[in-house]
Amino acid sequence: MSVRTAHGRSPASAPGTRDAAGSRDGLVVYLSASGTLGGAERVLLDLTTGLAGRPGGPSQLVIAAADGPLTRALERAGVEVVTLPWPPIVARLGDHGVRGPGGVLQLALRAARAVPSLLGYLAALRGMLRERAPAIVHSNGFKMHVLAALAKPAGSRLVWHLHDFTASRFVMVRALRLLKRRCDVAIANSRSVADDARQAWGERPPAVPVLNAVDLSRFSPSGPVADLDEMAGCATPPEGTVRIGIVATLARWKGHEVFLRAVALLPRELRVRAYVVSGAVYETDGSQWALDELRAFASSLGLGDRVAFTGFAADAPSVMRALDVVVHASTRPEPFGLVIAEAMACGRAVVLSAAGGATELADDGRSALFSVPSDAVALASHLEALVRDAALRERLGAAAAIAARARFSLDRFAREVQDVHRSLLSGTRRGPG
Ligand code: GLC
Repeated sequence: MSVRTAHGRSPASAPGTRDAAGSRDGLVVYLSASGTLGGAERVLLDLTTGLAGRPGGPSQLVIAAADGPLTRALERAGVEVVTLPWPPIVARLGDHGVRGPGGVLQLALRAARAVPSLLGYLAALRGMLRERAPAIVHSNGFKMHVLAALAKPAGSRLVWHLHDFTASRFVMVRALRLLKRRCDVAIANSRSVADDARQAWGERPPAVPVLNAVDLSRFSPSGPVADLDEMAGCATPPEGTVRIGIVATLARWKGHEVFLRAVALLPRELRVRAYVVSGAVYETDGSQWALDELRAFASSLGLGDRVAFTGFAADAPSVMRALDVVVHASTRPEPFGLVIAEAMACGRAVVLSAAGGATELADDGRSALFSVPSDAVALASHLEALVRDAALRERLGAAAAIAARARFSLDRFAREVQDVHRSLLSGTRRGPG
């Protein structure tokens, strides 16, 4: 098992972290199932940097299962990080999309082949945790929830940080039910995910909803504005054209298809350009669009230069600011929906697909418009109203920026997680809130 210390400094000497002995809250070890910067990892980055800045905050160490943008960003932020890489066979193991007896059998066979590597990984993780003796182990990602429950030292408390719905995951729901006694508390990114966890395993461990944060110093109404037309390689549209966009990974359930269908339903006389701000971040498989496939779909709808594809955009805030309307179109209930919170923080008019945690982020008609998931006609009618009415866009955007400041601050997020950690250490467990 190869271990790579991505950050050479000791926790005591790293800026923003404190020595375990000198810290009131002891050491928190976070386990991340991924080294990329998807939603859950960005939240982990916010959490560790937010806690590092709080008075009496804990010493912190992140153990990541792969190197990548997450580990590099943690290094830059001065958070201690160690990579304990998944063996490849374990990295490929997942229950996403597993359905029916055939799927379960296949997964069982793959899991059986992975057992020796898994045991090796577990032993290495257990050794690392024993050596650091954390007060709290805080896991991110289903595989890490399982491994954390099996590897945590007897004296450590365990927090499962849930970013996704559990009850519908055929294998994981069973695994977590089996292991739930080893977990002290689950933090859920929305009430909706907390309710789902309760359905999955009952009242213990309690599931406490803590809404994510966004970095309000970056995601704000003023700042640099991206040139989306240049990024997409197309001519600037006529003055007064309203820009609407979907900013999402290429996962099919993010609803690009619904978005494009809705754009195709808009009256031709409206001056509007639609942008697909997505690039291939992960390897393409059946659950993701290939960009060419999406382009072909757009031209089959006759969209022509009404739609532009920018590819992946590294600087999300400047993209948000370039759009008049940001569309969230997920076809499945969204556990939280970081893009919604980010667009709101940038003062954009947002249309969201009203299911799951997404509905907890804004108020329908005040700080966003709620649409019916998978319904292109409903989405088109919201878009038409927004394209025709600049005052409505203005009003929604202003209310969204105010709501975002109140709901999504890093300070509120770090404090609420710190409260959960502290209640564990003082033995007063919070009930589901
Ligand atoms: C997961 C969820 C997404 C959420 C993110 C951060 O990726 O699917 O809804 O925004 O985690 O919690």
